[in-house]
Amino acid sequence: MKVKALKGIRDILALESYLWYHIESLCREVFKTYGYHEIRLPIIEATDVFIRSIGETTDIVEKEMYTFQDKGDRSVTLRPEGTASFVRAFVEHHLYTEPLPQKYYYFGPMFRYERPQAGRQRQFYQIGIEALGVKDPKLDAEVISMLKTLFEKIGLKDTIFELTSIGCSQCRPNYGSALKNFLKNRLSLFCEDCQRRYEINPLRILDCKVKPCIEARQGSPSITDFLCSDCSKHFERLRDYLNLLKIPYTLNPNLVRGLDYYTKTAFEVTSESLGAQNAVAAGGRYDGLVEEFGGPPTPGIGFAIGVERIASLIKNSFTGQECHDLFICPLGHEASDKTLIFAEELRAKGLWVETGYEGASLRSQMRRANRIGARYVIVIGEDEIKKGEVKLKDMIGKYETTVDMDKICETLIKKLS
Ligand code: HAM
Repeated sequence: MKVKALKGIRDILALESYLWYHIESLCREVFKTYGYHEIRLPIIEATDVFIRSIGETTDIVEKEMYTFQDKGDRSVTLRPEGTASFVRAFVEHHLYTEPLPQKYYYFGPMFRYERPQAGRQRQFYQIGIEALGVKDPKLDAEVISMLKTLFEKIGLKDTIFELTSIGCSQCRPNYGSALKNFLKNRLSLFCEDCQRRYEINPLRILDCKVKPCIEARQGSPSITDFLCSDCSKHFERLRDYLNLLKIPYTLNPNLVRGLDYYTKTAFEVTSESLGAQNAVAAGGRYDGLVEEFGGPPTPGIGFAIGVERIASLIKNSFTGQECHDLFICPLGHEASDKTLIFAEELRAKGLWVETGYEGASLRSQMRRANRIGARYVIVIGEDEIKKGEVKLKDMIGKYETTVDMDKICETLIKKLS
């Protein structure tokens, strides 16, 4: 049987996993300092969870969801993003009855049936955060600042924070009318999807990736010119806070998010070092989403980071691959038995130990020690067992020291620290 991973879906092999682990650890570290807790959400949900929140006329819902009937004939979907699942869980477990604000983070795979290309997979990983219960734009500024701090720790350079406000259910209808007015005479230039969306959700036309549509909507009005006084004040105060924190950003009134649940603040972080798919993270406010899921009015804000995109940006400068502390080469049957016990003792004390197996020559064992990047190597043969001492070989310094076998552990711990 010859089988391959599905198109747009890839394996993360051991070497790359170290890089991912490094990114995840830094996220946990930074999120913790801002009071975020981990939440683990399911990968599969009832399809309605996504239709209702992401929006029926979005590309994600119309074209990209992995949706199928399960054996109980229920429509289920592999999650295309985390926010909808998170809010579903927040309402389902009545978390709103506990003190607000509440702050959470999550890691995991998302699924979108998009056309695969560099930086765009069908299964991709996100690290996301969500914070619920605060209207104050100070939280928006804090969330953006946390993302900036994280990117600095990760060592991302050349990132641009693009920011806008996309209003609320009060001001958006006025903007929708102005947009329809602008599009009315050029509607024939748009694709079929856009023509359909014109009536039901004209703002979605701004997110269409079809080239003639992008050209035909040039010069369309901006939502930021139509904000109600509440949204406008919120946006102004957010910008004041960002200035206070000295966070540089670019105003982009044309920033369009591919999800319908956003209100007020929306942002995207792009990197010039990526190709066409240049967004490394994106997010915004969703003040109406908890209510949409049947909970009480509860404002929310969050973002998600694309792990593959971050990993591709830092992989060349990453040197943090961990390696074995010690490789033991046994020579002969007795040494092999001795090594089995000795290695277990050292592992119990926390050392990362690998051994050669019986029958392998010293040369092939040394080759393996080199290949796995062992930091130290010892050879145990008849002589070493008789004398109770071994030569500890430093694989970086390329020198040897003679050490009592029962002192190996403390010697290594001292050297490695
Ligand atoms: P999103 O903009 O759809 O937002 O995705 C966030 C990030 O996920 C993108 O900026 C990108 O880095 C990565 N990403 C998206 N699609 C792909 C793909 N096909 N292949 C590789 N990476 C991809 C959300 O998902 C929202 N849930 C974010 C959010 C959280 N808003 C509020 N809270």
